[in-house]
This record gives sequence, structure tokens and C-alpha cells, in this order.
Amino acid sequence: MEIIICSDADEVARVAAGKVARIAEAVGPAVVIGVATGSSPIGLYNELARKVGAGELDLSEASAFALDEYVGLPEGHPESYAEVIRRTVTEPLRLDPRRVHVPNGFAADVEQAARDYEDAIEDAGGVDVQILGIGSNGHIGFNEPVSSLVSRTRMKTLTKQTREDNARFFDSLDQVPLHCLTQGLGTILDARHAVLVAQGEGKADAVAAMVEGPLSAMCPGSVLQLHEKATIVVDEAAASKLTRQDYYRWVHENKPDWQREIKGA
Ligand code: F6R
Repeated sequence: MEIIICSDADEVARVAAGKVARIAEAVGPAVVIGVATGSSPIGLYNELARKVGAGELDLSEASAFALDEYVGLPEGHPESYAEVIRRTVTEPLRLDPRRVHVPNGFAADVEQAARDYEDAIEDAGGVDVQILGIGSNGHIGFNEPVSSLVSRTRMKTLTKQTREDNARFFDSLDQVPLHCLTQGLGTILDARHAVLVAQGEGKADAVAAMVEGPLSAMCPGSVLQLHEKATIVVDEAAASKLTRQDYYRWVHENKPDWQREIKGA
């Protein structure tokens, strides 16, 4: 795991977007990007959009796969992840909507929709770089605590904590769906790179458990300890409960140039 501690949320966005952009350039025009919803990656998306607008990055031939979708919202609901991805990713990053995929949480047969989603990722050649946030309870995607560490895309029930955390996007807690379709932890681990961003004190416990805690289904994010190329980009508040902050900073400052070039940190 590579841990990058930034001074603030703006730097998190710049560093993480730089990393994603360098991977996209290295892969080529048909890069496949895994995209998360939620607040955490918004700055990263804004920075990628700025690069696209400035002609520094062209994602017009890229594909994208969202991590998850609610089950139980009417199609077209503004807080459905299909809509959120359209507003925050597809349009600003000038992606071709035909190549942007979100699990079909509106399907009559969600189990089939889950299998179809796995097939679609495989048909696209797999995800080159997966952008992630982490829930305050350690979830990634909507893989809540005690999710199987080898799980694939499937329906899950959201925890009370996650529904409360996400109620800010709805008029009331009652409107937050109970269920979702989410890529599994095994699906996420298959991505060739993972870039997770976290900001704020509310994420400090989850970040510490993910990075320094035991590999455990109690903190689904800890599965990234098994990933060969996982980069965690956090601000100081989200890093505040890490015990080895000095070491992570030292490693980052002393990274050899050749490794910066290739790994793009
Ligand atoms: C959303 C997702 C979730 C969020 C997590 C953090 O697609 O995969 O794991 O990343 O719930 O949400 P925010 O960023 O809103 O704090």
C-alpha cells in the first residue's frame, strides 16, 4: 500500500487526479476507469475535468464502471447513482455515455443484473484504475462490514450507519433505500490499480483500520492490503489516527524518481 498524506482536501484531489491521469495516459485511450459516487471523489473528478478542459487529458474513448447502485429508487431519481455518475463523471469528464456503466439496480431480476455487470467488466478487459472512497464503517463500494473478502457483484442490505451517512443526499432518512447492488470486494481487487481518497476526521478510524488494522471482513477496506497497487490519498484529518504517519511521509519524500515516473505518485 502506498499512503500519501496531503495537507488538505484540495491537495488530495490534485494528487489523486494526477495519479489517475498518469495511469490513463500509460494505458492509452481505451482506459477503463472504475468510478465511485459520494462526496470523497468529487474534488478528484473536478480536477480530472479541469485537465480534460485544458486539453491535458482525453477520455473520449475511455470506459467507466460505477461501483454500485441503490435498489428501490425509481429510474431517473436524481440520487440514483446512474444520475449521480452522469452529473459528476460522464458529463464533466466528457466520457461517451455509451461506455459508462452502472449496475442496474432497477432491473426486475437484480441477481441477473449482477451477473451481467461482472460479464460487462470482463468484456471490457477489466478495470485499469479503480477510484474509491471509504465509508465511516470501513465499507468500500457498498460492501458493508462482514462482507466476504472474495465477493462478486451482488445485492446487499445497507447498514443503519450507511443509511444515516447518506441521508444528507435525500429529504429524509426514510427515503434512503435499504438495498443496493455493489461490486464485490473480489471484483474491486481485480482492478489493476486502486486509488482511494478520504478526507476529514470522520474517516480517521476507517482509514486507520484499513491501512494498519488486521485484514478483516469487519473493515472491508482492509482487503486493499491484498492489492499490489493500492494508493491511499488522505488529508491530515483522515490520517490522524494512523500510527506510522512519519514513516508514510518519509517514504513519499524519499521515493526515487524512477518510481515516481512509473507509479506516478
Ligand atoms: C459509493 C461508494 C461508497 C462511498 C463511501 C464514502 O459509490 O462506493 O463506498 O465511497 O460511502 O462516501 P462519501 O464519499 O460520501 O463519504
